[in-house]
Amino acid sequence: MTNHRVIDGKAIAAEVREGVAREVARLESAYGFRPGLAVVLVGEDPASKVYVKNKGEQTKASGMNSWEHKLPAEASEAEVLAIVDKLNRDPAVNGILVQLPLPKHVNAEKVLNTIDPDKDVDGFHPVNVGRLWVGERTLVPCTPTGSVILAKSVAPSLAGMNAVVIGRSNIVGKPVAALLLRENCTVTVAHSRTRNIQSVVKGADLVVAAVGIPEMVRGDWVKPGAIVIDVGINRVPGEAGKTKLVGDVAYDECARVAGAITPVPGGVGPMTIACLLQNTVEAAKIQRGIKG
Ligand code: GUN
Repeated sequence: MTNHRVIDGKAIAAEVREGVAREVARLESAYGFRPGLAVVLVGEDPASKVYVKNKGEQTKASGMNSWEHKLPAEASEAEVLAIVDKLNRDPAVNGILVQLPLPKHVNAEKVLNTIDPDKDVDGFHPVNVGRLWVGERTLVPCTPTGSVILAKSVAPSLAGMNAVVIGRSNIVGKPVAALLLRENCTVTVAHSRTRNIQSVVKGADLVVAAVGIPEMVRGDWVKPGAIVIDVGINRVPGEAGKTKLVGDVAYDECARVAGAITPVPGGVGPMTIACLLQNTVEAAKIQRGIKG
C-alpha cells in the first residue's frame, strides 16, 4: 500500500501563522494593543541560539512585539529568577519563554514554576497542567498542540479512535494524551516499561511517537491505514561523516502501511513555533479577559 498521505507540517504551520497574524491585526484595531513575547536565553547552546533567533523572527513577522534577554552561562539562578520576576510584572509582556536546557547550576523547575501561569506560553507550569486535565481554558504545550492539529488535518474528528502515545514526558507525551482524550480518543500511553509494545502500537488508529529513540517504530508495528505522527528529532550518523535527522519512526517502512504520516524534518517541527505564537495571542486574551 503506497497511497498514503504525507502530512505537510511546513504548509500547515504557515496557515497557523497566517491565522495568528490576522488575529494580531484584529486585536490591534479592536483593542489598541499588540501582544508581545519575551524569550530568555541563558548560555551559548548552539541549537538553543538557532531556536531563539527563529522565534524572534517569526514573532515579529506575525506583527507582535518580541524581546530577547540573553544571559551568560555563568549567570546565577537568582539573576534568572530576577528577570522572570520583572517580565511577570511588565504588562507589555504577554508571553514568557525560558529556553531549555538551562545550565546545570540553575534549577529549571524552580525557574519555570516562577513564571506567571497566565504568561506561561510553554504550558509547563503545574497550574496550566492542571487546567488542561480538568478542561479549563489554558495555555497548552506547543508541540502537543501542533501534533494534534496535524492529525486533525487528515481526520477532522478523532472521536472513538484508539490512540497510542509512545513516551510519557511532561513536554510531549503527557500533554498529548490529555489533548487526545479531549478529542474523545481512547488513549494508551506506552513507554519504556510497556510489555509487548509492538502489539500495543498495532492496535492504534493514531500513533504519536515521542520517545527519543531513532526509528524505533517499525513498519510491521503499524496498523494499515493508521495516522502516524512522529515527534522525534534524532541526529544520527549519515553519509560522508555528516549527521542526518531521523524521527522515532522508520519512515519508509511505516509510510508503506500508514494512511497518513508526518516526515522528519518538515512534519511536527515547524508546528512548534507556530503554536507558540498562537499561545502568545491566547495569553494576551486571557490576561485582558477577551473571549474566544
Ligand atoms: N527547548 C527545546 N524545546 C523547547 C520548548 O518547547 N520550550 C522551551 N522553553 N525550551 C525548549
